[in-house]
Amino acid sequence: MYLGLDLGTSGLRGLLIDGDGRVVGSAEASYSNPHPAPGWSEQDPADWIKACRAVMAELSAAYPREISALRGIGLSGHMHGATLLGADDTVLRPCILWNDTRSAEQAQWLDAQAGIRESSGNIVFPGFTAPKLLWVEEHEPEVFAKLAKVLLPKDYLRLWLTGSHISDMSDSAGTSWLDVGARDWSTLALETSHIRREQMPELVEGSAAGGRLRAALCTEWGIKGSVVVAGGGGDNAAAACGAGCFAEGTGFVSLGTSGVLLAARDSFAPAPETAVHSFCHAVPGRWYQMGVILAATDCLNWLSRSVGQSPEQLSAALPRQVSGPGALTFLPYLSGERTPHNDAAIRGAFVGLDIGMETDALTRAVMEGVAFALRDSLEALRKTGANLETVLAVGGGTRSRFWLETLASTLGLSLALPAGGEFGAALGAARLAICAETGADPAQVMTAPEISETIAPSSDLTARYDEAYQTYRALYPALRQAGA
Ligand code: XUL
Repeated sequence: MYLGLDLGTSGLRGLLIDGDGRVVGSAEASYSNPHPAPGWSEQDPADWIKACRAVMAELSAAYPREISALRGIGLSGHMHGATLLGADDTVLRPCILWNDTRSAEQAQWLDAQAGIRESSGNIVFPGFTAPKLLWVEEHEPEVFAKLAKVLLPKDYLRLWLTGSHISDMSDSAGTSWLDVGARDWSTLALETSHIRREQMPELVEGSAAGGRLRAALCTEWGIKGSVVVAGGGGDNAAAACGAGCFAEGTGFVSLGTSGVLLAARDSFAPAPETAVHSFCHAVPGRWYQMGVILAATDCLNWLSRSVGQSPEQLSAALPRQVSGPGALTFLPYLSGERTPHNDAAIRGAFVGLDIGMETDALTRAVMEGVAFALRDSLEALRKTGANLETVLAVGGGTRSRFWLETLASTLGLSLALPAGGEFGAALGAARLAICAETGADPAQVMTAPEISETIAPSSDLTARYDEAYQTYRALYPALRQAGA
């Protein structure tokens, strides 16, 4: 038996699978994500432990026989968070999360320092880990002075599970401290951001062993043997493992709170100027690249709150089939943007509002605007040499047929829809546990899900979506100039 633990932004999910990868059961526990000041986003690491205890209690009660036979745990988690520990591993302050923008100035400074982009292969985005530490040094010097270790969120959970300070390559790639090509901490990046190597955890590959479950926890949860904890992965790498995306040419598009277009790569081909993220994969010798847009279904949620209709109601008012782009253009920069603009200050807009338009025109424009933003990510990915033809479509937004058809014709890519079941980060984490415990070849373990249907771009409509995309592209510079 193997367990994937996915530490998400809103809660922790445990997924139990057998040695053949079949799902046995799952449990979830949520926690809060306070925003104590505008642009701030934090979490109390003690809440992750509480959630993990709750998930394990539920699983051991529901599946006592299976849990007693547990052999491996894989971890996945939201990336970029800074969990600061003092001596004796005491937590020094709340964890600063991936969607916290307080260190935008520090990110800009670090990004401009010699050699940083070269070693990390990425822009230092506000939200990445290193600039957060510069912010703490400046604003909370007493905390910075006590710093003994910095851990990513899932690695703090590992510390509690195993007693070891360990991280994996894929999650560490999002810190700006990793030399992503060499898969090792970069002395230059550490020194430039005033961090010492001994403050970093030890590095392992995601599919390798990264600690053993403490004996006390084995007893508490009724586990008979010894349990290996795999290196695991940042949530996008783990999701790619769950979806079978790790060979060159495979990838997924995710319509979640944020939007991701991910391409697996078998070489390291950084192109920071495109604002594409180039990170280590959770399996050795592979990387992945992705465009990240900060608001995807979040834009629909915003519209839903504004007009007082649920996202489902908004979607239901649109036809199932698309007939070409509408007259209204939406720019989805409600929380700023990463790919391709790296612009924390930009904000969204509707352009072309007409007196005759009703809510459905706004919904349609929102879905099209998100599709155009993902097309920007596709164009950026292409500049790195990534070549995608069919991608898996995942995330809550894929429940809208209209959105899927719009996306296929806007991207000019076929979208493969999983038939159901599990294919997310928790499954990817559990699969990494299988690899770490058995030494199995990841290619045999990380299979693609069954596909229920593939949505091809409509050859009659792609030219029209392309034209509308060109209009969309021209609006960002104008918006920027207008100071939005
Ligand atoms: C990736 C990113 C998010 C977080 C939270 O760069 O910021 O995907 O990992 O899910």
